[in-house]
Amino acid sequence: MSGRVRVPGDKSISHRAIMLGAVAEGRSKISGFLEGGDCLATLGAFRSMGVGIERQGPGRLSIDGVGRDGLRACAHPLDLGNAGTGMRLLAGLLAGQRFDSTLTGDASLSGRPMNRVIDPLTMMGARIDADDGHAPLMIRGGRSLNGIRYVMPVASAQVKSCLLLAGLYAAGQTCVREPMPSRDHTERMLRSFGAHVVHRKGWVCIQGGQSLHGVDMDVPADISSAAFFMVAASITPGSNLVLEHVGMNPTRTGVIEILRMMGADITVESKGMAGNEPVADLRVRYAPLTGIHIPASLVPLAIDEFPVILIAAACADGETVLTGAAELRVKESDRIKAMVDGLTELGIWAVPRADGLTMRGGRLTGGRVQSQADHRIAMAFTVAGLVATGPVDILDCANVDTSFPGYVAFAVGAGMQVSVSRNDPA
Ligand code: S3P
Repeated sequence: MSGRVRVPGDKSISHRAIMLGAVAEGRSKISGFLEGGDCLATLGAFRSMGVGIERQGPGRLSIDGVGRDGLRACAHPLDLGNAGTGMRLLAGLLAGQRFDSTLTGDASLSGRPMNRVIDPLTMMGARIDADDGHAPLMIRGGRSLNGIRYVMPVASAQVKSCLLLAGLYAAGQTCVREPMPSRDHTERMLRSFGAHVVHRKGWVCIQGGQSLHGVDMDVPADISSAAFFMVAASITPGSNLVLEHVGMNPTRTGVIEILRMMGADITVESKGMAGNEPVADLRVRYAPLTGIHIPASLVPLAIDEFPVILIAAACADGETVLTGAAELRVKESDRIKAMVDGLTELGIWAVPRADGLTMRGGRLTGGRVQSQADHRIAMAFTVAGLVATGPVDILDCANVDTSFPGYVAFAVGAGMQVSVSRNDPA
């Protein structure tokens, strides 16, 4: 794995750029936008609510904001596809509108828990009907929302962001407190758009009734997508790969800390800023890895990177223990189960636990792995293919496009041998 590459734009930031640009006053120009299925679903939802969004080139958008109260009812359900971020953040933004909306998603999204946003939004005065806490969500318009103080039971940026967006439409102040810090892109971006967001003694608070103003914004490369190549280069002898313009928000860099604890050789070069977000180039060289007990405090800061971190652990010397990661069970798939099953298929000893797993590094064989239609599980196992003693066949890969369009060509360009079989729709 060698050369210099730039992975596509950050998924979390791209979703938020559309949402805030849509309800801001005036025009926003976005570059580096992730044109993957998840963010395109959010883009489509806002177009259906009357927002003019024009594509001006690859990853370049111009959004004509309609202002706080300018969204229009959509006659049909808004389909968020596979995107938990799209659905949960939109639920917050739409709970305080004058019109009704319905949010739907694919089979995976329809199986994910939505009570974590429905309950606190209901406390604010929203009315959301759902089927036992699952999508579709029917959001009633014309409700008056009130600010609340809410202590979140789990660290979740989606829940925090949902409530902050609802808070923009609520009377008084909405304050949220997390058990551990989660990604803070919403807070940073709200500030870029001119809103006042306050951090006080572990609480993040927003005053209702504020207006946003359009901005020009560059979206960093997604550290979650870069993570596949950090591990790929770390486990492949002779590698020297530079990942350019990677988002280095400290609430996202847990993957670098964890890999370094395992012995990875990752150096940070040419630091800068993209909008309100830190970025850097990362140089990754091959290094022998050792198993570790992953500190639970790093789990929310690397929550999306565990599939590929566990591939690193499979190549490491000794045991790796992951705890405090029960949230992995309610991602696009049950990622603890998907990883234990896949690793076991490839000859690695791995035992699940309710909130993580214990596993031992070893020699990866070839085999046939079920991705559970989860983009990150599929990509993680392509990385395993770099060191496996036989071919790794990964099934059900179409959803890779939700976060990393063009992944196969990109991975081949960086040095991986990966191809799409005609039997898989990806
Ligand atoms: C995200 C938050 C995380 C993460 C997801 C993106 C976001 O989810 O797993 O991929 O953009 O806010 P949780 O908030 O459920 O932890």
